[in-house]
Amino acid sequence: MYDQASTLRKLASEREAGSRRNMRVIAVSSGKGGVGKTSLVVNMALALAEYNYRVIVLDGDLGLANVDVAFGITPRYSIRHLLSGEKRVEDVLYPVDRGIKVLPGASGVIELANLDRGQLKNVLVNFGRLEKMADILLIDTGAGLGHTVLNFICASDDVIVVMTPEPPSMTDAYGLLKSIKSQSEKVNVNVVVNRVRNESEAEQAFERLQYAVSKFLGMPLNLLGWIYDDPLVGRSVMEQKPLALSNPQSHAYKCVQWIAANVAGIYLQPPTQNGGIKGFLSSLLKN
Ligand SMILES: Nc1ncnc2c1ncn2[C@@H]1O[C@H](COP(=O)(O)OP(=O)(O)OP(=O)(O)O)[C@@H](O)[C@H]1O
Ligand SMILES: [Mg+2]
Repeated sequence: MYDQASTLRKLASEREAGSRRNMRVIAVSSGKGGVGKTSLVVNMALALAEYNYRVIVLDGDLGLANVDVAFGITPRYSIRHLLSGEKRVEDVLYPVDRGIKVLPGASGVIELANLDRGQLKNVLVNFGRLEKMADILLIDTGAGLGHTVLNFICASDDVIVVMTPEPPSMTDAYGLLKSIKSQSEKVNVNVVVNRVRNESEAEQAFERLQYAVSKFLGMPLNLLGWIYDDPLVGRSVMEQKPLALSNPQSHAYKCVQWIAANVAGIYLQPPTQNGGIKGFLSSLLKN
């Protein structure tokens, strides 16, 4: 069977080593909590690793250690030990699957949040040998309009705002975009619509947000992709095993692979909700 993902992996690995840019910092954020940021960050890191990107995930959530929980790990050190100089970057980075490294935030996130935007960017990019160790630094910023979240976003090259098609999630996404606009004009803003039933639900939700954002904020928005509502996501959270590892064939992970491909600049067809030709045939048989 033709395996599109392995072909893409091969293509991605054939890129010249020298063509890699400096580490790109991508913040994943949302207005409202619980919309799927951590699931996206963890699985997108695993998908990017499939395309041969070296990824570091910074758990920038001030609350519970979301990323640690998702990977089922209990790291001893956090970014606080780096900031204090007690530990080297190699000691703090926690290796997980596919060469990905987790940079636990914990209480050190508060210290990071107190840096100004320029300092934060320098810290993120120049932490010891961090920049040479990864192509992409993915930050799970946590939700809301807090100082920490906005600081992470403004220090990043790109932000991915996650929302669901539900009105409260969309209004909170709008609120976050408004705050981003008031802090920085430079960030590239991308949207991922999570937990959709079908493609048109995702497009309609995005278009509604885009209409308001362009009318009232005059801000360009890019639809990076969408993720189908999939009960396997909840199960992987319960099992503390990322979907990419427990159910790589799931609809939701196929969408994340597509989103990661968009980030990597690889063209991939959006996954259909009923699984392409197989779904087509099964729906044909049902009728
Ligand atoms: N595509 C999906 N399909 C079904 N359920 C999903 C999907 N994405 C997320 N969920 C559910 O939503 C819950 C919250 O997801 P997640 O923890 O990734 O959100 P979050 O935005 O990081 O939350 P918080 O703001 O609390 O950190 C998950 O436990 C999962 O059950
Ligand atoms: Mg989270």
